[in-house]
Amino acid sequence: MNDTVKQLKLSFEQALSAAFGDEYAKTDPLLVPASNPKFGDYQSNVALSLAKRLGQQPRKIAEQIIQKLNVVGICETPQLAGAGFINLTLLPSYLETELKSAYTDLRLGIVKAKTPKRVVVDFSSPNIAKEMHVGHLRSTIIGDSIARVLEFQGHNVLRLNHLGDWGTQFGMLITQLREAESVNDYDLLDLGELVEFYRESKKRFDDDAEFRERSRQAVVALQSGDEKAKIAWKFLCNKSRIEFEIIYALLDVHFDEERGESFYNPFLVQVVEDLDKAGLLVENQGAKCVFLDGFTNREGEPLPLIVQKSDGGYNYATTDLAAVRYRIEQDKANRLIYVTDAGQANHFAQVFQVARRALWIPESIEIDHVPFGLVQGEDGKKLKTRSGETVKLKDLLDEAIVRARADLENRLKAEDRQETEEFVANAASVIGISSVKYADLSQNRTSNYVFSYDRMLDRQGNTAPYMLYAYVRTQGISRRGEIDFEQLGNSVDILLQHETELILAKHLLQLDEVVNAVEQDLFPNRLCEYLFQLSQKFNQFYDKVPVLNAEEPLRTSRLVLCNLTARTLKLGLSLLGIQVLDRM
Ligand code: ARG
Repeated sequence: MNDTVKQLKLSFEQALSAAFGDEYAKTDPLLVPASNPKFGDYQSNVALSLAKRLGQQPRKIAEQIIQKLNVVGICETPQLAGAGFINLTLLPSYLETELKSAYTDLRLGIVKAKTPKRVVVDFSSPNIAKEMHVGHLRSTIIGDSIARVLEFQGHNVLRLNHLGDWGTQFGMLITQLREAESVNDYDLLDLGELVEFYRESKKRFDDDAEFRERSRQAVVALQSGDEKAKIAWKFLCNKSRIEFEIIYALLDVHFDEERGESFYNPFLVQVVEDLDKAGLLVENQGAKCVFLDGFTNREGEPLPLIVQKSDGGYNYATTDLAAVRYRIEQDKANRLIYVTDAGQANHFAQVFQVARRALWIPESIEIDHVPFGLVQGEDGKKLKTRSGETVKLKDLLDEAIVRARADLENRLKAEDRQETEEFVANAASVIGISSVKYADLSQNRTSNYVFSYDRMLDRQGNTAPYMLYAYVRTQGISRRGEIDFEQLGNSVDILLQHETELILAKHLLQLDEVVNAVEQDLFPNRLCEYLFQLSQKFNQFYDKVPVLNAEEPLRTSRLVLCNLTARTLKLGLSLLGIQVLDRM
């Protein structure tokens, strides 16, 4: 109902200038959704805000506005309430028309962005030779959902995996690999072993000065393009990549490009040079750095952002500075999004500040760090396995599927239903993976959340199974009535008579507002909340009014409401990266 709000605002503008003169036309009508359905659908507080300026009682002002307010065809007669609020209730006939136009539109009335942007979404981004952890899982799920929303809105999205594939740790890894009996020893390494391998080399690095020295030389060799060092490095990257791919396939997440940190290596020299030219570079104890505004140490002195270490090496921040430039200059991005844990907020604020001061980020570019909180175990501490080890993502996802399957099998038994293995396996995998994704996305991402299989797989509450059930219910109606929703055709009449129909209709029409909000502020939990309420409102409607047994023309109208609910759920869930099931 984006357009509805726009139209109402326009009507207010006209009423305000008619009542008080043109200089009042641009006054914000302070139109908000009504806090309680008994006040209608929208409320304007503008009369209160003008009391001082006009030197009149708010109720008096409201009366004058109402007199001039033309909302014929959209709302019932505006009502004056309380201290001077103007309450608006949408006309059923208006809702019917709006709903019909959403119904006949494949995009459910959501218009694509008028000026599509080139948006870079940097997400997931695990580190080579290390295990992908739950933080990367969050980044993957949230980043994918954001990318899906932006893509749906018609933007030109570049999904980037900024793999941690560069840095001094490769010196020790390469050396460890070289000093093994033969590289073949490592041919069969899976990521679990690779992590062990990482640990071993780290231990040697810490304990053995000569190993440390050889590792340093290996870094230099790698960075100066030495072929042998590169082969070893590639070998390690490929091993990791295979494991990451397994997770991405399970999650149904893809990237347009993998651009590891190494990709930006050729541009690092230029970054430092240009910072120098911009007059921002300062030498501090041999390191090249930029002093930051607004970041101070305990003594209150400004903090430096190091861009080149005293040994000549570059770091994480230098790479991100090169990446910002590349994405703006080469990828022609006008919006940059980075999805990482909240712990990196300072890193990004510092990188963005330096890039801005170097004039690498034009005014017109929107640049957002999208932070998220921690995933905790049920004890409120860092998520661990029962034996106290860090949880492997593959195991975590598999476990969700196993549990979803157990639930499903129990239910099939209780209902005495026979289903094929194919059905059970597919449903368990959809339910298991959706539950993990939904549990993550439905939280306000900035807060920490407690990982609980029991809660995420519960069929009651704000969970994936609850939502999937609502969808299954809509499909059950079409099966039982032997109705092909697609065959209802476009020339149907929608009639909104029962209260639950009106409530459902109004909610269905808010989809565009919610998707737009997620596009702007990148909080997918808003969409989850919307879909949860939609499922609830649909269930109330379905419990209160007959659908298949209703008389025509109500029957068809109600079937259309069911179909619209189904399509809205399916679309909304798909924007969260969640598939639906016709039966479960
Ligand atoms: N590899 C990093 C990590 O595991 C995340 C990278 C995020 N993206 C970026 N451009 N810095 O924490």
